[in-house]
Amino acid sequence: MVLLGKLAIVTGAGSGIGRATCRVLANGGAKVIVADCNLHAAEQTVKAIGRDHAIALEVDVASLESVSKAVTSSIEHFAQPPSIVINSAGITRDGYLLKMTEKDFDDVYKVNLKGTFLMTQQFARAMIDHHVRNGSIINISSIVARISNPGQANYAATKAGVISLTEIAAKEFGKFGIRVNAILPGFINTPMVDVVPEKIKEDMLQRCPVGRLGRPEEIAHVIEFLASEKSSYVNGAAIEVTGGLK
Ligand SMILES: NC(=O)c1ccc[n+]([C@@H]2O[C@H](COP(=O)([O-])OP(=O)(O)OC[C@H]3O[C@@H](n4cnc5c(N)ncnc54)[C@H](O)[C@@H]3O)[C@@H](O)[C@H]2O)c1
Repeated sequence: MVLLGKLAIVTGAGSGIGRATCRVLANGGAKVIVADCNLHAAEQTVKAIGRDHAIALEVDVASLESVSKAVTSSIEHFAQPPSIVINSAGITRDGYLLKMTEKDFDDVYKVNLKGTFLMTQQFARAMIDHHVRNGSIINISSIVARISNPGQANYAATKAGVISLTEIAAKEFGKFGIRVNAILPGFINTPMVDVVPEKIKEDMLQRCPVGRLGRPEEIAHVIEFLASEKSSYVNGAAIEVTGGLK
């Protein structure tokens, strides 16, 4: 129970990596705010892990108004802001650069990069104002930030931006006792990967030394480590969890 007594908020918690993270953090003893723009999906996650451990919250990470309401609701409900923030909300809108619409670029930017910025800024400010120590913010980037797949200019650029944002936040927040780290998952078996064309999936599997997709829990266990005091000297890191895919 490495997270006993801790409060966490997880975005994108209605599916995939976010949902698995809620389960793992709750098993580790944390109370979890299950945040997603799809409230029904968030409620399904709460149902799966039990109402003693979690509450569902509708949050659109791309909206400052929605994120600041989430801060207020968290404090109203638990009398303090969470000390653990997991930014897992993310979307893809793949397409070759020459065909990519402005909307597909903007939509991905708003959720993946601006959403991570808003969540990081608003929840870090709440932690500082409420004198929360030992904060841990974990941002889900992607190995795509490093391998730059054709057809993912919008997604890869936002995920590279998440690494920079993480490194700067780690430098700025260290003095407040808040660590900030990023995880770069490889190909993980979630609804996000269901839409990837078979040929691209096969190519990725061939390039992956362990020869299989990752399971969402395999990301969640690294998140649990980064959320806990076991990682108390890990700060500003970008950790690849890819089965060796480069
Ligand atoms: N699955 C992979 O292979 C993989 C690989 C690398 C990185 N990632 C990253 O991991 C994170 C989780 O991905 P996943 O595979 O679990 O995806 P997923 O599609 O299963 O889940 C994403 C969740 O985010 C929510 N969401 C979307 N827009 C939102 C918004 N504006 N506000 C709040 N919630 C929003 C969705 O409703 C959904 O529940 C994403 O940031 C993704 O980019 C995934």
